Amino acid sequence: MWKPALVVFFASFGRAALLGASDAFKVLNIQSPDGSARATFIPFGATATNFWVKDKNGRFRDILLGFDNHTLYQSDAQGHPYFGPVVGRYANRIRNGTFTIPISENASGKNKFHVPENEHDGIDTLHGGFNGYDRRVWTLLSHTRNAISFLLVDPDGTEGFPGTVTATVTYRLEAKATWKISMRAVSTKKTPIMLSGHHYWNLEAYDETQDLVGHHAQFDASRVIATDGILIPDGKLLDARNTPLDFRKAKSIGGSINSTAPFEYCGTGCVGFDNCWIYDKNDGKKPAFSLWSVNSGIR
Ligand SMILES: *[C@@H]1O[C@H](CO)[C@@H](O)[C@H](O)[C@H]1NC(C)=O
Ligand SMILES: *[C@@H]1O[C@H](CO)[C@@H](O)[C@H](O)[C@H]1NC(C)=O
Ligand SMILES: *[C@@H]1O[C@H](CO)[C@@H](O)[C@H](O)[C@H]1NC(C)=O
Ligand SMILES: *[C@@H]1O[C@H](CO)[C@@H](O)[C@H](O)[C@H]1NC(C)=O
Repeated sequence: MWKPALVVFFASFGRAALLGASDAFKVLNIQSPDGSARATFIPFGATATNFWVKDKNGRFRDILLGFDNHTLYQSDAQGHPYFGPVVGRYANRIRNGTFTIPISENASGKNKFHVPENEHDGIDTLHGGFNGYDRRVWTLLSHTRNAISFLLVDPDGTEGFPGTVTATVTYRLEAKATWKISMRAVSTKKTPIMLSGHHYWNLEAYDETQDLVGHHAQFDASRVIATDGILIPDGKLLDARNTPLDFRKAKSIGGSINSTAPFEYCGTGCVGFDNCWIYDKNDGKKPAFSLWSVNSGIR
């Protein structure tokens, strides 16, 4: 299991990655100072594998989706859902795997770059290509009782992107089950870059139900970024008001899924939500987004 992985990491990513490679799946724990939350991470993808908080009865539940068998994070044996990592160098999709520097509409300018198309049978690039940041071994930078930091050096030309990127992510657990994530990246050349945490939550840990009818959400967003049939933004904005995408008034997520069917908001033939909402305003002073389960009491 280990040897092939080591060779691949060494060949593609050099010394910084190799240093971490022997501990790619080492489980690293942090917890809130007041004991309200605990989380575990692995250097592979700087991935959050588990996140425990208390339900309405004071019992801890792991509400973050992930593979219990950590070797599955590096294979496609059960698909490639991007459970819990940092995605990059470019989170989301690049149409036709092409862009120019400077960026131009439809990659029509000079100085064109081509990155591997790893989605939809080769018509777009998702989350940085076949070997995105979720599949790299990040180096452990620091680890305290309630915080952990990882570093990734992504050499110039890797997966076709220009410039060597040095990225760091810090995960910190604070009181009242507060999780703070901070990311920073610098590049030696101009490059498209967008890093994101890629977490899936189930606030019931699938205990009470297998659907999302008990999950409710509320956020003030009147507009959504419009996309084509494979979820690539087309430059327009949708008016979400009084449509199934309208969560300005709290409502059940599961209870709203079927009503999306005619609109294909999440792509051709897709029923449900996989969208980018734009907050009407977010001054950072109060929660801009609320999600809770009426069954577990976790919010
Ligand atoms: C974990 O997954 C790998 C890859 O599919 C498999 O070979 C291995 O047997 C699994 N381990 C356990 C304990 O299930
Ligand atoms: C799509 O990518 C190919 C390279 O794979 C390039 O030759 C072609 O010009 C691109 N088309 C568009 C519309 O950008
Ligand atoms: C980009 O492609 C769209 C859709 O094919 C087209 O409407 C638009 O005119 C193109 N823009 C440029 C600058 O070529
Ligand atoms: C949505 O539709 C499916 C399939 O028709 C049905 O089984 C399910 O109960 C519906 N969900 C809700 C919340 O109405």
